Amino acid sequence: MKKARSLPASRPAPEDDLAKLKTRLAEAEETIRAIRSGEVDVVVVNAKKGVQLFTLEGAGHAYRVLIESMNEGALTLTTDKVILYANQSFARMIKCPLEQVTGSSFRRFLSRADGSALRALMKQAATTGSKMQVLLMAGDGSQLPVQISVRELTNDDSGRVTIGMVVTDLTEARRTEELLRALANRVVQVQEAERGRVALELHDNITQLLCAVLFSSQALADKLSASNGPAKKEAIKLRQMLGATAEEVERISRRLRPSALEHLGLAAVLRDTATQFSVRTGVTVKLDCGSLIARLPADTELALFRILQEALKNVEEHARARHVTVSLGRQGAFVEMVINDDGVGFNSSQHAARRKGQGVLGLLGMQERAAHVGGVLTVKSGRRVGTEVLVRIPVAPETDLPTAVSA
Ligand SMILES: Nc1ncnc2c1ncn2[C@@H]1O[C@H](COP(=O)(O)OP(=O)(O)OP(=O)(O)O)[C@@H](O)[C@H]1O
Ligand SMILES: [Mg+2]
Repeated sequence: MKKARSLPASRPAPEDDLAKLKTRLAEAEETIRAIRSGEVDVVVVNAKKGVQLFTLEGAGHAYRVLIESMNEGALTLTTDKVILYANQSFARMIKCPLEQVTGSSFRRFLSRADGSALRALMKQAATTGSKMQVLLMAGDGSQLPVQISVRELTNDDSGRVTIGMVVTDLTEARRTEELLRALANRVVQVQEAERGRVALELHDNITQLLCAVLFSSQALADKLSASNGPAKKEAIKLRQMLGATAEEVERISRRLRPSALEHLGLAAVLRDTATQFSVRTGVTVKLDCGSLIARLPADTELALFRILQEALKNVEEHARARHVTVSLGRQGAFVEMVINDDGVGFNSSQHAARRKGQGVLGLLGMQERAAHVGGVLTVKSGRRVGTEVLVRIPVAPETDLPTAVSA
C-alpha cells in the first residue's frame, strides 16, 4: 500500500506534472495497442475483492511459442480457478473454442467430486506442486482422462498469486494400460489352460503307466519265493518306490490343476493344500473358512487357491515362520482372504526397489491374479513382525452358487 507523502517544500513546476501525465498517457496507449494486437492478453475477473485486471505479458515470445506448440494443455488460473490463459492444445483437448475457455471457471470441466479433490490439490500447490488424475468433461459431452499438475506462481512485481497448470491427456496411456491388463489376463488364462493340460496328461498317462508297473512289480514280488530272499527284497523295495513315485506325480498333477476345486469347492482344496504344506515343512497352518458357506464363481475360487499357493511358497522360501493363519470369509459384497505368518518379514520399500532391478514375480503375480477377478491384494510386512497378505474380491450376492460339499 502506498503511504501519503507530505508535499515537498518546493512544488515541481507545472510543466513537470504535464510531462509525467504525457508519459503515463503514452504508456496507457501502448498497453491498449498491445492488448488490441494480441501481444498482451488481458482477463477481467469479477473477483470477491472487486474487479481485477490480469495481464499476461510476462511470458516472452520464446516461452509463448513453446507453450503454444506443446502437446500438453497449459493454463494459468486465479486462485478461484478462473482461467486467465489457456493454450490451443487445452482448447483442442476439451473440444471447446479458446475464447469460451479463457475467462471461464476451470470447475465447469470437472465433476463435483473431482472439483473438491482439485480444491485440496490447489492448497498443496503453494508448497510442493501436486498432481492428480481426473476426468474432464469436454465440450461435446465426452469425458477425457487427464493428469493435472499444478504449481503456484507469484508475480514478483505485483505479488499477485496465480496457479500454473499443465494438463496431460491420458487416453493413450489408459489404452496401453488396458492392453497390458488384457495381456496379463490372457497370460493367466493360457497358463491355467497349459497347467490343466499337463495335469491331465500326468494323471491320464504317467499315473496310469506307473500304476501298471506298480501292479507288475507287486506280482513279481509275490511270485518270487522266499528262497530268492535278496531278489524278493529288491522287488518289494521297487514296488514301494513306484508307489511313492505315483503318489508324487498325482500330487504334482493336483497342484497344477486341482480338479477337486470344481468338485469339492475352495474350502476343501485350501484345507488339503494347508495340510500338505504343514506335513512337508513342519510349519503349522490354522485355516478358518467358517463364514464361507456358498460356492464362489470358478475364477474367483481359482484365484484364491493360486494366491494361497504362492503365499505359502513365499513362507517356505523366505519367512522362517513357525505358524501361519489363513482366514477366508464373506465381508459384505466381498470375499476376503487373509494370510498371516509369524516369520522374519521384509521391508516392502526395499522389495519395490529390488523388483525394478530383478523382476521377481511372486507378489506381482498374486496381485495380477486378484486384479484378474476385479480384486485387490495388499501386503503388509516389516522386519521381525511377520507378513500379512490380504486379498479382497468383489462378489455380487446373486453370483452365489450352491453350497459347497463340506470339506
Ligand atoms: N512371507 C514372507 N516373509 C518374508 N519375506 C517375504 C515373504 N513374502 C515375500 N517376501 C520377500 O519379498 C520378496 C519378493 O517376493 P516374491 O514372491 O515377489 O518373489 P520371490 O519369492 O523372491 O521370487 P518368485 O516368487 O518369483 O520365485 C522375496 O524375495 C522376499 O524377500
Ligand atoms: Mg515368491
